[in-house]
Amino acid sequence: MTSGDDAIKGKSPYTLVRLKESDLLAVMALEQACFVQPWTRDNFLGELRRKVTVAMGLRYDGMLVAQCFFWLISPEIHLLNVAVAPRFRGLGLARRLLTVMFSIGRKAGVKTVFLEARPSNLSAIGLYKSLGFEVAGVRPDYYEDGEDAVLMTLEMGPPEPAAGYGF
Ligand SMILES: CC(C)(COP(=O)(O)OP(=O)(O)OC[C@H]1O[C@@H](n2cnc3c(N)ncnc32)[C@H](O)[C@@H]1OP(=O)(O)O)[C@@H](O)C(=O)NCCC(=O)NCCS
Repeated sequence: MTSGDDAIKGKSPYTLVRLKESDLLAVMALEQACFVQPWTRDNFLGELRRKVTVAMGLRYDGMLVAQCFFWLISPEIHLLNVAVAPRFRGLGLARRLLTVMFSIGRKAGVKTVFLEARPSNLSAIGLYKSLGFEVAGVRPDYYEDGEDAVLMTLEMGPPEPAAGYGF
């Protein structure tokens, strides 16, 4: 456990952490391993400094292996980025991070979560559908290479009075 408020103790070998500017290099390395068109250093720095951004990750043996960035602007969450290191995929890590995001959102009174994804990104679309997201529309020409984005939304249930999210 790295400090009292930025990690949880548990049986899982993965430690949930809130990402900080000191994690920038690890965040960029993970991003570059996961995306053909990765976010830049400035993109991440901007998000790590932005008040409405929640940035969290999972560490395994001290190494950042999964990350998730979202804007918490209640009553909405905008999911910006989720990535899992290739060797650690298929283990439920993305689902775990997004489940934590939902708990944070419920506590903050969030009603709707939305995101954009490439229609060609079948693992991402599969992930979001498995969590209850539905296709709500298309954003034409959304990506720099001209690919449209599929807009997906999820309506949240009522708050969980005793919900905690571990950091
Ligand atoms: C998309 C991504 C984050 C999924 O991470 P992951 O930790 O492997 O996903 P999980 O193990 O939590 O999977 C949860 C569910 O997502 C779905 N899913 C995950 N990978 C999938 C795949 N390759 N094909 C179809 N569905 C998939 C499944 O429903 C899965 O549930 P199941 O294991 O019970 O079948 C990961 O593949 C990744 O980092 N990709 C590159 C970055 C990226 O594209 N991010 C999304 C940008 S919009």
